[in-house]
Amino acid sequence: MKNVCVITGGGSGMGLEAAKFMSKDKIIVLAGRTVAKLEKAVNELKELGYEAYAHACDTSDRSSVKALAEFAASLGEIKNVINSAGLSPAMAGQEKILRVNALGTVYINQEFSKLMKEGSVIVDVSSNSAYILPGFIINKKIYALAETDEELFVKKLIKKSSMPKSEYQRNGFAYSLSKNFVVWYAKKCAFEYGKKGIRVCSLSPGLIATDMGNLEAGEGGMLIGFSAEERMGKPEELGYALATVADERNGYLAGVDVLCDGGSTNGMKEFKKKK
Ligand SMILES: NC(=O)c1ccc[n+]([C@@H]2O[C@H](COP(=O)([O-])OP(=O)(O)OC[C@H]3O[C@@H](n4cnc5c(N)ncnc54)[C@H](OP(=O)(O)O)[C@@H]3O)[C@@H](O)[C@H]2O)c1
Repeated sequence: MKNVCVITGGGSGMGLEAAKFMSKDKIIVLAGRTVAKLEKAVNELKELGYEAYAHACDTSDRSSVKALAEFAASLGEIKNVINSAGLSPAMAGQEKILRVNALGTVYINQEFSKLMKEGSVIVDVSSNSAYILPGFIINKKIYALAETDEELFVKKLIKKSSMPKSEYQRNGFAYSLSKNFVVWYAKKCAFEYGKKGIRVCSLSPGLIATDMGNLEAGEGGMLIGFSAEERMGKPEELGYALATVADERNGYLAGVDVLCDGGSTNGMKEFKKKK
């Protein structure tokens, strides 16, 4: 039986770049909402010598995620899941961002972990914006609702992110909350699924020159000046980082967030300390 690697948001950006660092003896499944984009990405992988498949999936819909997991399991043993699907503040409103980035992560982790075996791994993509929230905004009791009362979870996080005056800032707040949730949830899953031998981590990129990163570079670019090299990250750098964290050989990396942001979060902290 062949091993399968599933990448949501794999039709573009860092998800697609991660696929290119996977071993060629694995079957790659790229998932996302836009079939034409997925098929183009699959053709690119096939030209590089991969066996790859496109599968339409909206990660904010549990039944769609379940169908993706079942499709992947029908091809072989699911070894790696990289959950890179996401929407940014310029792409969607607060509710949509929360449903895709936060609840989408719950659906991916829950539905895939049912079919995954010992020695497999889930990497959930967060963001360094998870680290910029003031502590009083973060409420773990609200986060726990994601597994018990999804509608209340979304309602409460919309309320929390509704303080700013501009729509973009409200979306930005919802984005940071959704990604802070991803870090919390990946850690929670690591300790639950660890008993089955499934490793879970999150990875938080800084501003990366993908379609999304370029779209957000204006408002979201303020952290670049704090990074060690004062530049955006390259999609292939993040692809490599994701593929490495998702590699079975990295078997002792679990229950942590890998902050891959060129040092910008720490650079900002140091700057604030000096002020
Ligand atoms: N680029 C950055 O600066 C940056 C920084 C920090 C974190 N991130 C995170 O990194 C991840 C990858 O982003 P990227 O930079 O590679 O941008 P990207 O190229 O826009 O990739 C995001 C992918 O997610 C897919 N997607 C969006 N909504 C979806 C849904 N409901 N179901 C399934 N797929 C969905 C998109 O395809 P469809 O629209 O066709 O579905 C797209 O291919 C995201 O989670 C993002 O939040 C990015």
